[in-house]
Amino acid sequence: MGPGPSDVGPSVLKAMSMPLVGHLDPVFVKMMEEIKAMLRGIFLTQNEMTFPVSGTGSAGMEFCFVNLIEPGDEVVIGVNGVFGTRMVDVAERCGAKVTKVEAPWGRIIEAQAVAEAMKGKKPKVVAVVHAETSTGALTPVEEIAKIAHAAGALFVLDTVTSLGGCPVRIDDWQVDAVYSGTQKCLSCPPGLSPVSLSPRALEAARTRKTKVQSWYLDVNLLASYWGQERVYHHTAPISMNYALHEALRLVMVEGLENRWKRHQENHQLLREGLTKLGLTLASQEGHQLWQLNAVAVPTGADEAGVRKRLLTDFGIEVGAGLGPLKGKIWRVGLMGETSKPENVKAFLSALETCLK
Ligand SMILES: Cc1ncc(COP(=O)(O)O)c(C=O)c1O
Repeated sequence: MGPGPSDVGPSVLKAMSMPLVGHLDPVFVKMMEEIKAMLRGIFLTQNEMTFPVSGTGSAGMEFCFVNLIEPGDEVVIGVNGVFGTRMVDVAERCGAKVTKVEAPWGRIIEAQAVAEAMKGKKPKVVAVVHAETSTGALTPVEEIAKIAHAAGALFVLDTVTSLGGCPVRIDDWQVDAVYSGTQKCLSCPPGLSPVSLSPRALEAARTRKTKVQSWYLDVNLLASYWGQERVYHHTAPISMNYALHEALRLVMVEGLENRWKRHQENHQLLREGLTKLGLTLASQEGHQLWQLNAVAVPTGADEAGVRKRLLTDFGIEVGAGLGPLKGKIWRVGLMGETSKPENVKAFLSALETCLK
């Protein structure tokens, strides 16, 4: 019940243990097509360029930035936690001139603040984190995407923690480049990063003046592997793709909207239980994540002591606060397979015992 990886279902673990085939084997190629189709269904996009990058969520982040940014490009990034901060680092390593739109950790990035920061600028990219795993805040992004497009910029979105756990609508929101991770609400082990590029973003990557800094993450090369040509690029992690195929199948079987609803209901159950214990959530009211709950540590409680005892006495892992939230919150994940009423009840009862 930490900030990820979440629990993984038995059929996903079983899929990982299946015999290997070659990464250009027709069976694997068929599986790649099915993974791409299921990812489109979960990202709610028609984007042809939708596939899992070999690497964790941070590789997806780098994929988006290295392909879209050239040295000297202006980039506007929302920073309200660890992962917005990481985006800034990645963009700067690509040679971008970054303007940060900062919000206190736990609060959302306001569209108005993005608009203000863009005045007089002509950014190539505007980027925000949808679900900030370090704080538990969910930033609404539709308006920010409109502001980015009105200024001629591409809109990049981090959905590592949101995908599969709450609405993510890539085409409706007009997101140009999006990345996610397998180990949160998709309930697959960490190791792949689903990504999707709009035709506009792909065009930007194709018509750059300079070569993409990273050979491994260059979409122009990856397109020949994940597209119809099937030209060898790197050896895809076969077993991870088996796992993702099965995890995505489970999402499809449950139904995307049912899955979102399940995450919402278990979050609600947790909230009600916390209220009974006199506890509250620390992230901004009205924008609290269903899958990552930032529980405010009550005055006088030993934050690290409670977390340790939850693990040793009850076998329950929760996350600590990071940065300015260190010592102030417990991060309780209800992601994918972990989002179950029995987990919520076990956590509340264990927490009550620890606090007493
Ligand atoms: C919102 C967000 N973005 C990016 C990442 C980086 O993903 P990974 O740790 O899989 O590289 C994480 C990981 O927790 C995350 O929560």
